[in-house]
Amino acid sequence: GAYSYEDCQATADWLLSQTAVRPLVGIVCGSGLGGLADALKDQVAFNYRDIPNFPQSTVHGHAGRLVFGTLKGRPCVCMQGRFHLYEGYPIQKITMPMRIFKLLGVETVILTNAAGGLNQDYKVGDIMIIKDHLNMPGFAGNNPLAGPNEERFGVRFPCMSDAYDRELQQLALDVGSELGFSDFLREGVYCVLGGPSFETIAECRMLHKLGADAVGMSTVHEVIVARHCGMRVFALSLITNKAVMDYDSEEKANHEEVLQTGKQRAEQLERLVSTIITRLEHN
Ligand code: 6GU
Repeated sequence: GAYSYEDCQATADWLLSQTAVRPLVGIVCGSGLGGLADALKDQVAFNYRDIPNFPQSTVHGHAGRLVFGTLKGRPCVCMQGRFHLYEGYPIQKITMPMRIFKLLGVETVILTNAAGGLNQDYKVGDIMIIKDHLNMPGFAGNNPLAGPNEERFGVRFPCMSDAYDRELQQLALDVGSELGFSDFLREGVYCVLGGPSFETIAECRMLHKLGADAVGMSTVHEVIVARHCGMRVFALSLITNKAVMDYDSEEKANHEEVLQTGKQRAEQLERLVSTIITRLEHN
């Protein structure tokens, strides 16, 4: 299950020996949103299978590469394809790349995902700035920080009321407005479930009542581990489909629709993220 600090250090050291890029920003690309990685200049890319200790990706639509490079001159590292609970990995494995980011020198993590819209005002193609989350697997004891705490990464009981950096949320709203994206830019609460089955109608209604605006199968675990080791976090959901909320609906959630919407809105989402990155202040 868990990786030791020394395992993570060995992986980070190996990567640092293979590239001169010293990233301050770490990006995680969601389903169909891997184009951000392709936009990096002066790329040095590694297939996950070639990185010592790194987990492997199994989902269609997730390339499984760690890409170093620069985005408008800013050194970045980008996960093209991520790991999910539903692939059957232990939860510590899914989030191990966040600790690698930390040891590479990353200060700010930007995560994207594809999600189902629960908020009835949301439309397919909306981009939601995540302001908070509901960690449903966590309620059942499935938290990536369960087990012995590694003090070199962070404290035993990390705070999560400030998980999503408020300044970065405001920056995203400002940048979104400048780019003319305000009509489809939202702020909301993301709820993570284990998957891989999509939600029933009753489950969608429940999650909506509990305060979730969007539902998906990723991101939250990574956010928890990134915050534990002190990185700043910003996250976006692309609403790729509307969660089915009533019994008269003919709609059915499916992975093809998720990837198709990703294609249509991906370019704008990438512009939003890359513009945010050029405005980040790092000391
Ligand atoms: Cl509707 N549900 C979940 N759990 N994940 C999703 C989704 C729905 N749409 C995209 N990802």
